[in-house]
Amino acid sequence: MTKPDDQALILREPAELQYRAQLDALIQADATTSRDAPPNAWKLSPRSVLAYITGTPKPIEATIGGKKVSVAITRKFFNDDALVERAIVTLASERALLLVGEPGTGKSWLSEHLAAAISGCSTLTIQGTAGTTEDQIKYSWNVARVIAEGPKPSNLIPSPTMIAMRTGGLLRFEEITRCVPDVQDALVSILSDKNIVVPELPDANMVFARPGFNIIATANSRDQGVNELSAALKRRFNYIHIPIVGDQKTEMAIVRDRSKELIERYKIPAKLEEPVLEVLATVFREMRNGTTADGTTFQKTSTTLSTAEAIAVALDSAIYARYFGTGAIGVADVAKNLVGSIVKEDLADLQVLKEYLSLVAKKRGAKDALWKAFHDAAIKAVASAS
Ligand SMILES: Nc1ncnc2c1ncn2[C@@H]1O[C@H](COP(=O)(O)OP(=O)(O)OP(=O)(O)O)[C@@H](O)[C@H]1O
Ligand SMILES: [Mg+2]
Repeated sequence: MTKPDDQALILREPAELQYRAQLDALIQADATTSRDAPPNAWKLSPRSVLAYITGTPKPIEATIGGKKVSVAITRKFFNDDALVERAIVTLASERALLLVGEPGTGKSWLSEHLAAAISGCSTLTIQGTAGTTEDQIKYSWNVARVIAEGPKPSNLIPSPTMIAMRTGGLLRFEEITRCVPDVQDALVSILSDKNIVVPELPDANMVFARPGFNIIATANSRDQGVNELSAALKRRFNYIHIPIVGDQKTEMAIVRDRSKELIERYKIPAKLEEPVLEVLATVFREMRNGTTADGTTFQKTSTTLSTAEAIAVALDSAIYARYFGTGAIGVADVAKNLVGSIVKEDLADLQVLKEYLSLVAKKRGAKDALWKAFHDAAIKAVASAS
């Protein structure tokens, strides 16, 4: 993919553009070291794909734009690295990959980075919805030209699947379980025969997949029941369950890294300081688990308070602080923006927050000014939301 000239016009670059220097450095490292050669049409060797996603302890020396530079390979996905290894192995095999897990656990994020590292393109994507049709998975026609000229290969509009097959790339299929079973079944033949038949064309009516073609699908475990995958399709996918990161240190690292990047993208000068980040991560973890480290228990929220939600609260707090606050991101900004995340699924969750505030935050506030500020602002936010 080429980089458009006017960078200012892009709100969010795909991974292969945003992390191009890191990917280029790893491609050079593959060529100069004795690492395994990239399989099939892969851009990187499996070891380098893993290094791209989990980061490397030391920067890599590379020549970028004619200059010798050392490029730090940052960690993109925080979780058990064995999960990433299994995902890479699956993509090198005959089987397709299905990442399943609670909302906001980084499934789409991991799939984007895997596609960027393996095939150099993360934008061949189908977003599964109840309205996704078989045409969107296979191909459609430019109807006006078909009426004028009849069905010809040049009048065919290829789907992302067909493009991925022709180029030996990876197709990303987001939220696959939202598609109705008939539509999901269109994938069975693609995954078994690795071709798409175009019966409307008199000849050359088969599109064959090139080596390297595979599918990375994601499914939200809360939606699994919407349209469960058929047994035939299940057999063609390797499932990898992505759990919510359990430990506070890792969750803080994710929120720190991702919110820093977002805050910079929105050109907000403020920084999320460690003590504020710690309060945010603690509130999320404790409310999600319904318990604190010292054994206080309370009701859990029905909303999954995912890591992605914590990142969103951090960004909202930064924007709030920038325009309506002091400029510095404080715990009061976090408290104000937390309420929206808590009541997403059920207004009754506000009661859970109230219980948490009185059982936990108030007690801590007696000894700690930061927790007191959080408690006071949250009480006000809850009162205005109820
Ligand atoms: N373990 C993680 N490592 C790195 N980033 C993460 C992780 N978990 C969540 N995130 C961040 O959270 C944000 C949302 O993640 P993403 O959209 O991938 O979630 P998801 O699992 O696909 O959710 P959904 O099921 O709702 O689609 C991303 O910006 C991502 O960077
Ligand atoms: Mg997703």
